[in-house]
Amino acid sequence: MTVTVTNARPTTALREARVPEGGMHEGARTLRRLPDGWRERPYEHFELVPQACTIGAEVRGVDLSRPVGAALREELNRALLEWKVLFFRAQHLTSDQQRHFARHWGELETNPLLARGTDEEVVLFDKGDGATPTFENVWHADVTFRERPALGAVLQLREVPPSGGDTMWADMAAAYDNLPQEVKDRIDGATAVHDYIPGFARFYGPERLAPFQDLFPPVEHPVVRRHPETGRRMLFVNTSFTTRITGMEREESDRLLRYLFQQAHVPEYQVRFRWQPGDVAFWDNRATQHYAVNDYGPHRRVAERVAIAGDRPF
Ligand SMILES: [Fe+2]
Repeated sequence: MTVTVTNARPTTALREARVPEGGMHEGARTLRRLPDGWRERPYEHFELVPQACTIGAEVRGVDLSRPVGAALREELNRALLEWKVLFFRAQHLTSDQQRHFARHWGELETNPLLARGTDEEVVLFDKGDGATPTFENVWHADVTFRERPALGAVLQLREVPPSGGDTMWADMAAAYDNLPQEVKDRIDGATAVHDYIPGFARFYGPERLAPFQDLFPPVEHPVVRRHPETGRRMLFVNTSFTTRITGMEREESDRLLRYLFQQAHVPEYQVRFRWQPGDVAFWDNRATQHYAVNDYGPHRRVAERVAIAGDRPF
């Protein structure tokens, strides 16, 4: 697949652009939570308790096992767009209730790579028994190797280790906002290749991966995507699945991607959630990356996730 990159620049210009080697720059950061033109408005159907500056809020007073009417759905969606990750304590949903809640945001995504048995909608993560490797402790957005990566996901923890096992999320709109202007100039309008192989080859052998090559051929997405509901620009490359920037020499692409991947590591863009059994997190996969902290072995951590099908990034 070949895509013309309209803002591709000569090699020398790319080398000359100053990309901080450590991936981070110190000093003030722009931490803007609301999209342009949005104003602060109260929530009427629940209490919302912020967990960080731009990302992550606990929603109190909503029982996700009960029907979600249009007005509540609307307000939860606004909260999701404004906070990017919502937390709901002690919900203890059945798998069907979890699916039912997620379907208010669209069709559920099936994931044959992660499915166990015949249920391709509910992905079970059962980790810490010493037998199953954990592979979610790398910053990533889910399934960006698909032409239409997931809109979002609803994750519930069924079993929680005595300590650890937190999940972290990073705000990729804040990550974009804080890029140096010369980096923005280089990546606005550029596309990058996403491929499931590098992300999954760490824990599946070639024989397990091969059957999916026709199903998930490498795909190109914009390096900076616009949020389909808010119009906000967001950095959209991740360590697990983004392999190269289109039309750029390998060495330069690697260097720039390394720098861009590092942006998810900046603490000011992050929220970290400490789970209790039955807690639910609902995240906007278009606007965030996440990282499952792997610090609880040999204890068990059991989670179920459903994902909502998304649209093609632009
Ligand atoms: Fe994930």
